[in-house]
Amino acid sequence: MDGWPRLNEDSAMSMKYERIAVKPVTTRIGAEIEGVDLSKPVDDRTHREIHEALKAHCVIFFRDQKLDHEIHKTFGRRFGELHVHPAIPGPEGHPEILPIHTDETSTYIAGERWHSDVSCEEEPPLGSILYLHTVPDYGGDTLFSNMYAAYDALSDRMKDYLDGLTARHDGEMQYRGRYKDRVADDSAMVYPWADHPVVRTHPETDRKCLYVNPIFTTRINDIPRLESDALLKMLHEHCAMPDFQVRFRWQPHSVAFWDNRCVQHIAVWDYFPNVRSGFRVTIKGDRPL
Ligand code: SIN
Repeated sequence: MDGWPRLNEDSAMSMKYERIAVKPVTTRIGAEIEGVDLSKPVDDRTHREIHEALKAHCVIFFRDQKLDHEIHKTFGRRFGELHVHPAIPGPEGHPEILPIHTDETSTYIAGERWHSDVSCEEEPPLGSILYLHTVPDYGGDTLFSNMYAAYDALSDRMKDYLDGLTARHDGEMQYRGRYKDRVADDSAMVYPWADHPVVRTHPETDRKCLYVNPIFTTRINDIPRLESDALLKMLHEHCAMPDFQVRFRWQPHSVAFWDNRCVQHIAVWDYFPNVRSGFRVTIKGDRPL
């Protein structure tokens, strides 16, 4: 759609990449990063370039990386403190590692509807770094959608209406009883919930983005239920428009690093009964404004 904003151009143009090559996948979201080996310590300049590429493209992809848990966590920590998932335990000794695994015994996959990771928390994650070592020969892509573009594409009347509204994000409906294979009894667990602005301003780019998603957002506050349901339905449909998206085709040992503040994603389960397996680290964020 002509006239819609594309990349975060200020960010994309202010950085001259010297250590990495940045190859956009679409004009709106997603770039492949080349020239870096994440298994080695990332120097400050390379780190800054990766950070700028993330800001400019919202989700960045790396190929042919070999990450163990320590290396994965060390890379994640360059961007902030690591998050521990409120519902899913990590492997022994690595609470900050989130296993992402599907095989012929699976009854669900992580992230099969559009969402921003753990948006039910008061301070939802800044970003997530997913490393898959095993992928099916076909299928198993992840789609990412640019929430700046989704906001920008709304009419001015709708932007005015949404201005100042908050929405409830609740972990209960997503997490309660879901992870029986990993947590035998979650009856004593209290899952997080939080109210966040429907439109948030990204703390680094100062740009506005839509911040409601079908996995966690249960209602828009302070308006009638009927209006809230209709509005959420429209916003969820709007956010899922292909115009805002990039689709990532995984290979073994690929990494995707997305900014949860301005991106939603969805994993496609079109490879059953094949195996897709890896690990995610998630970086803590701050309160949406
Ligand atoms: C997730 O982090 O929501 C899972 C994404 C994926 O498996 O592609």
